[in-house]
Amino acid sequence: MLKTLRSVVRLRKFDWNSRRRRLARCGDINDLRRLAKRHLPGGVFDYFDGAAETEWSMDNNSDSFEHVHLNPRVLVDVSHIDTSTTVMGQPMAYPYAFSPTGFTRIATSAGELAVARVAAQRGVPYTLSTLGTRSIEEVAAVSNGPLWYQLYVWKDRGLSRELVQRAKAAGYKAIMVTVDTAVFGRRQRDVRRGFTLPPKIGPETFIDGMRHPRWTLDFLTHEPITFSAVSGRGDVDGSTAITLSDYVNSQFDASLSWRDLDWVRSESGLPIMLKGIQSVNDAQRAVAEGVEAIALSNHGGRQYDGSPAPIALLPAVMDAVGDGIEVLVDGGVRRGSDVVKACALGARAVMFGRPYLYGIGAAGEMGVDWVVDYFNAGITRTMALVGATDLASLRGTARIGK
Ligand SMILES: Cc1cc2nc3c(=O)[nH]c(=O)nc-3n(C[C@H](O)[C@H](O)[C@H](O)COP(=O)(O)O)c2cc1C
Repeated sequence: MLKTLRSVVRLRKFDWNSRRRRLARCGDINDLRRLAKRHLPGGVFDYFDGAAETEWSMDNNSDSFEHVHLNPRVLVDVSHIDTSTTVMGQPMAYPYAFSPTGFTRIATSAGELAVARVAAQRGVPYTLSTLGTRSIEEVAAVSNGPLWYQLYVWKDRGLSRELVQRAKAAGYKAIMVTVDTAVFGRRQRDVRRGFTLPPKIGPETFIDGMRHPRWTLDFLTHEPITFSAVSGRGDVDGSTAITLSDYVNSQFDASLSWRDLDWVRSESGLPIMLKGIQSVNDAQRAVAEGVEAIALSNHGGRQYDGSPAPIALLPAVMDAVGDGIEVLVDGGVRRGSDVVKACALGARAVMFGRPYLYGIGAAGEMGVDWVVDYFNAGITRTMALVGATDLASLRGTARIGK
């Protein structure tokens, strides 16, 4: 009996690093999300995790990947798989980039710097948001990888011009104009909590903070969080608590239209990606305007609740625009196989936001690194399982149906 017992008992070496230990037990992004939920105060988690109104669009974004099927080819030599591509001229080892997310420092003081560092080390393009809480220059200083700058156009055009020019001077390689935020979506979780940026300390936040001592200590022992792009401009830098909705609606230009794209291009001289295209007609218009790339996106369901899932829109867009423009898919990507499905339907690459936010919320920089490992392994494994040795050989291997 002892012999049998000895043959099955293998004591796993204990890992003294609690973050690594917990990450090792995460099977997928849902597990990482649960871990982030445990580690962050409720209001912070809901700001990352929530979406607009009924949250139907957010759920539908990821559910729609389940209706895409790949037809595996067998007896293909998959001992070498090439996952590389380019987007707007930038080489990428894997076909995905990190979407812009505002206020990342609310998860941990390193915020955007932590995400940008991992992205650069792992060759993933990182997009800094206009609502970033680390400056254009601070992010550039920690990154020797591809950086893109996401632009919300301010009513104060001088400010937009200044940001675009700073991004160019700091070595950012593209401007991503977000076009789905004429006004701010109604994020009901934030409304219910009265969530402001930075958070106001009331009795509920106080109790929540006590239950998350690690987060609270980090928050209280670092410099106050502000919108770094406009740091020092007390009227707009977020140094006084404000709801994001009031901020966006008062500061950003709701009159932005197709006519303004030439202005963005002439100010920056950089390639332009439009993020937030939600119809075939607008994809065609983007081609006509000579834009380099589009991201089919509904802002992760945070803007118009009811917008089509980007992955479901992709086939019709590809039929309409062919290879006339680079098309990316953003929203609901949770597995390496989702990335492969999008590429099989013609996407140049995908982007995602919440997965790396869950990573940083769950375990800081180490959590973001886990996300990169998880996606890279998932993409390579799926390509091997469906018999594709490079991204081009995926084309035409997907169908959409139940
Ligand atoms: C917390 C959070 C903040 C975001 N902030 C911005 C932003 O400042 N600018 C922007 O263009 N998109 C923003 N987005 C949208 C993301 O860029 C991206 O479109 C979305 O997260 C994709 O969906 P996914 O989270 O399912 O991957 C944000 C998303 C989240 C979750």
